[in-house]
Amino acid sequence: MRPKRFFIETHGCQMNAYDSGVVSQILQKCGYIETRNPQDADIVLINTCSVRERAERKALSRLGELAALRRRRGHMRIGIIGCTAQRLGENLVEATVQPDFIIGPDAYDSIPHALEALERDEAPYVNVERTGSAIYSFRPKVYQQVTAFVTIMRGCNNYCSYCVVPYVRGPERSKPHREIVDEIKHLVGLGVREITLLGQNVNSYNDGYADFADLLELVNGIEGLVRVRFTTSHPKDLSEKVIKQIGLLPKVCENLHLPLQSGSDRILKLMSRCYTLRDYLNLVEKVRKTVPEIALTTDILVGFPGETIEDHEATLEALRMIRFDSAFMFKYSVRSGTAASRLADDVSEEEKVRRLNEVIRLQNSVVDEKKKPLIGMPVEILIEGQSQRHPHHCIGRTRKNWLAIVPSKGVSKGEVVVANVASASRWMLICEGASRKVGA
Ligand code: 5AD
Ligand code: SF4
Repeated sequence: MRPKRFFIETHGCQMNAYDSGVVSQILQKCGYIETRNPQDADIVLINTCSVRERAERKALSRLGELAALRRRRGHMRIGIIGCTAQRLGENLVEATVQPDFIIGPDAYDSIPHALEALERDEAPYVNVERTGSAIYSFRPKVYQQVTAFVTIMRGCNNYCSYCVVPYVRGPERSKPHREIVDEIKHLVGLGVREITLLGQNVNSYNDGYADFADLLELVNGIEGLVRVRFTTSHPKDLSEKVIKQIGLLPKVCENLHLPLQSGSDRILKLMSRCYTLRDYLNLVEKVRKTVPEIALTTDILVGFPGETIEDHEATLEALRMIRFDSAFMFKYSVRSGTAASRLADDVSEEEKVRRLNEVIRLQNSVVDEKKKPLIGMPVEILIEGQSQRHPHHCIGRTRKNWLAIVPSKGVSKGEVVVANVASASRWMLICEGASRKVGA
């Protein structure tokens, strides 16, 4: 009999990408094999995101499309996992398009039970229990990529007023440092050379033995690993010790994601972010003094309830002052159950779009200006593989996390090379003259 096949479609953040790996591992243990084609799959899973309304709508519309495929293919089953599964839970059973199973982020260990229930024709199987304790690890048998994510903690205790994450992902918990180190060693054994440590708030990592600064040191010591990144850092928890470690530990890249959200103190307070713009600027100054080469990236949220033109101008001014290397920019969307959902969503959609475009335009011009002086400069690139878009070129990233391509002659996947920037677009450095980095 042909082994059963599964296909996973991942929406949302890097945490979800990691979780899809975990789920794929569980399904493989149950004898399933992964396929890249949903038309060929016995089970199609959608790993969903709830952070903005649009992401959720997208997942639900995908569910509709897959249900049409299920009608045509009879035996195919659909599973909804991730944050929307958690948030909507049993309500999804009532939906016009009924999934065959609904499993929240704390309940992935129950996937084998869901498969048994499907065998017995007992759909839909629902498990959205929020144990608040689930921690998974990713130890694939084979792994093709040079970079990998490792989730070091799950959940969040911050309850920023706009954010649904603490409700769907539960309270913060740290994975034991030994497990993290073992997991990374396993991945390095499979060819991984760069790790990104993941958590909603990595700076509050603590497993009772190691805090985040200690963990960085432990990971930096892993033989064969060449780069370490981490995300996300909440400005209120970024300690001096961690800032020093970024400067000191050679494998930790000069790259820090530090979500600002707004440049207005009034809005930051309404968001329950626990810092003022001044606090944030002081932090940036400290970081840049300790690690002058640091690339700072951020998240900006426009159109929060009650945001005035003056508040918006304060955000634009903050962007001009700080000059981030890159930013993820969003317009506010109401998430039911959050504290902000009780405030009037009083910035019109049209105005949100206008403010978002203004923020994007400004940030793009900052990035363009920052890229210009790079021309002619050497950059260190970890080669991730052949470029799909640029024939005869390999693609990789610099330590600052910028995408870069180099002619593929003489370079191979997993190598660290130094090359000169010949030209730079907003999203890509085009490099030439690559030479292999000694000792990497
Ligand atoms: N609406 C829009 N953006 C949001 N984010 C979080 N919640 C919302 C929301 N309700 C953004 C924040 C956060 C990023 C991951 O998503 O900027 O840092
Ligand atoms: Fe959401 Fe704030 Fe937690 Fe980030 S720190 S996941 S924005 S509640």
